[in-house]
Amino acid sequence: SLITSVRSISTSSVTPPYAKLINNLNLIKNLTSNEPMTLAEKILYSHLNNVEETLGSSNSLRPFRGEQYLKLNPDRVAMQDASAQMALLQFITTKLKETEVPASIHCDHLIVGKDGEKLDLQSSIATNSEVFDFLNDCAKKYGIQFWGPGSGIIHQIVLENFSAPGLMMLGTDSHTPNAGGLGAIAIGVGGADAVDALTGTPWELKAPKILGVKLTGQLKGWSSPKDVITHLAGILTVRGGTGFIVEYFGEGVENLSCTGMATICNMGAEIGATTSLFPYQPAHKKYLISTERSEVADAADFALSKGYLNADEGAQYDKIIEINLSELEPSVNGPFTPDLSTPISQYSKAVKENKWPEKISAGLIGSCTNSSYQDMTRAAELVSQATNQGLKPKIPFFVTPGSEQIRATLERDGIIETFEKAGAIVLSNACGPCIGQWDRQDVSKQSKETNSIFTSFNRNFRARNDGNRSTMNFLTSPELVTAMVYSGDVHYNPLSDSIKKEDGSAFKFDPPTGEDLPRKGFLRGREEFYPVKEPKPNPAVQINVSPESDRLQLLEPFERWDGKELKTNVVLKVEGKCTTDHISAAGAWLKYKGHLENIANNTLIGALNKETGEVNTVYDFDNSKYTIPDLMFKWKSEGRPWTVIAEHNYGEGSAREHAALQPRFLGGKIILVKSFARIHETNLKKQGMLPLTFANEADYDKISSKDVLETVGLPELVAKNGDNGGILNLKITKPTGESFIIPGKHTMSADQINFFKYGSALNYIGELKRT
Ligand code: F3S
Repeated sequence: SLITSVRSISTSSVTPPYAKLINNLNLIKNLTSNEPMTLAEKILYSHLNNVEETLGSSNSLRPFRGEQYLKLNPDRVAMQDASAQMALLQFITTKLKETEVPASIHCDHLIVGKDGEKLDLQSSIATNSEVFDFLNDCAKKYGIQFWGPGSGIIHQIVLENFSAPGLMMLGTDSHTPNAGGLGAIAIGVGGADAVDALTGTPWELKAPKILGVKLTGQLKGWSSPKDVITHLAGILTVRGGTGFIVEYFGEGVENLSCTGMATICNMGAEIGATTSLFPYQPAHKKYLISTERSEVADAADFALSKGYLNADEGAQYDKIIEINLSELEPSVNGPFTPDLSTPISQYSKAVKENKWPEKISAGLIGSCTNSSYQDMTRAAELVSQATNQGLKPKIPFFVTPGSEQIRATLERDGIIETFEKAGAIVLSNACGPCIGQWDRQDVSKQSKETNSIFTSFNRNFRARNDGNRSTMNFLTSPELVTAMVYSGDVHYNPLSDSIKKEDGSAFKFDPPTGEDLPRKGFLRGREEFYPVKEPKPNPAVQINVSPESDRLQLLEPFERWDGKELKTNVVLKVEGKCTTDHISAAGAWLKYKGHLENIANNTLIGALNKETGEVNTVYDFDNSKYTIPDLMFKWKSEGRPWTVIAEHNYGEGSAREHAALQPRFLGGKIILVKSFARIHETNLKKQGMLPLTFANEADYDKISSKDVLETVGLPELVAKNGDNGGILNLKITKPTGESFIIPGKHTMSADQINFFKYGSALNYIGELKRT
């Protein structure tokens, strides 16, 4: 009867399978005697591959949190061009004819930002045609939607087209949680995880804990959704969300726009959260209707009436943080870490105390975090205020629309003209400067002099935007970036200060105003940017990868484990922060995302050697000096397996699986750290590496490069199927011959033990499909 009632509502291919999900939810409710559930739990557990098997004899979900691995069936997959290459190269090795769930490819990361949309797009297509053609061929062959260069940024397109309340999706990009702004559970993963979903293999996730964020009050004046998350990042730090899904609730949610909620969820990646989401709201319905998905809104209304799309009364959160939106002050986060949050009123003081640059050198707005109609109309309204006073930006000002739909709508409504008349450069609908594709003309990459940029982006690791390690990226709202470009002075606070005009009079901005959604509706824009709606697989399409290509290389399966203890040498002891940008740099290296051997030349080039204080420098046994990848290549050729030692939150940042593939390709066996970022740890396991943490953090100090590090009891551990996590002892032998044992900890599930045993998750999936 439930299925009939869902069917009576017209649904489309982007409507989540509510009937099945509600049936699963009811089954869980029966098995747990109606235990109150959070929204995240409802969505996640309704996507279980087998509810009864997972719950077993348990009559509560609570003990699962942070403990039990869940096998989930996501509804769809989205991939961006840089990570899609490796995901698809891996998919090809499975020899399947089509994907098991709907998927989309988005060409956004490989587009440079320099001269503006037209020229940048042309030159980026010319430079990357081999890759775009490869992705397009894969899309045609396997029936995947292909969003070509210029169509927009993955997360904006997902929000406009695919995200829906109660959906579960995987995306090969760490800001996939953006879709949680429309009530989906959307998780950033590596390509190998995406391949799980694409092949219909249940995808494994350790049941997250739930962090409730209660929003009260209402945003006003200069405060914006961005400030909610920059403020929260300040409270929680880059590690505070690790192992959690962040679920927002409270009456403060009611006044947020759907795209504002997406901004907040987007940057949940910066606190390490598995994902973030909001409960179904009237703002979601408005957004679904304005993006021409009223059938999804109707179906969601129905699902809500069955208790699927909200948290239950009495739902238990593992932790609750409360934010009063009425009291929220805009903040500026950075430099070099997204959690260093300074309220704008304190920023001038912080600049002096920290000796940050006194001038701002550029302002950039847009990116997947902040390129909604609301963001852009609020920023443009400030531009209009300044233009009306005869003011011009004092520093270069760049605007990146998130999608063709946003761009065309902004153009129709005069917003693009407002920006361009003021002298801003409107870049193509792509990632551009957010991912190091900023061909910056005013400051050289090698410049040692620090400079500050203000952006509305989400990430600010060193060298992230312009490839220059001395550029300090301060993250803030688009509104604040826009006001700051008219001053160029870090000591200016637009909330309280004035700008001096040429005639000597003072101008003070009024707080920005804008519109959540376009009154005249969205305009699709140029049709050539839209894919075939329901693509069908065409097995006749040939995928051609030239053996001469330096961009693409077909994959060879990694070798299986030989059943013995691992005996390695420590190649590098890393000090401090080591993000995926340090392990596999972006920027110019994006070019080699589809060529494992070539991109391996950037492995850990950003890492700081604890023993020498040098970046990208290591020493061989005879003390000869090497770059880190060069020594790894050398040891690989000598058949000498290695280990890297590092500190906390190793692999924080993005879902970049290259950060796991490259070490594996170069002969790495073990990564031993004080703690891991979740996605990276999973990625290492998927590629057949052994990720371990120190049971006693102090043991980090006892190990040096070139020490021999051996496992003790690995075959027994594998034979026991990993025991669902536990201790694996390690024997350390110093060059002097002295040796001792330290305990390491692993978190491998039974399946993940098989990844290790078979050499990689793909080898294992292949084995399962063949048997
Ligand atoms: Fe692209 Fe930057 Fe977002 S790289 S996907 S705009 S975080």
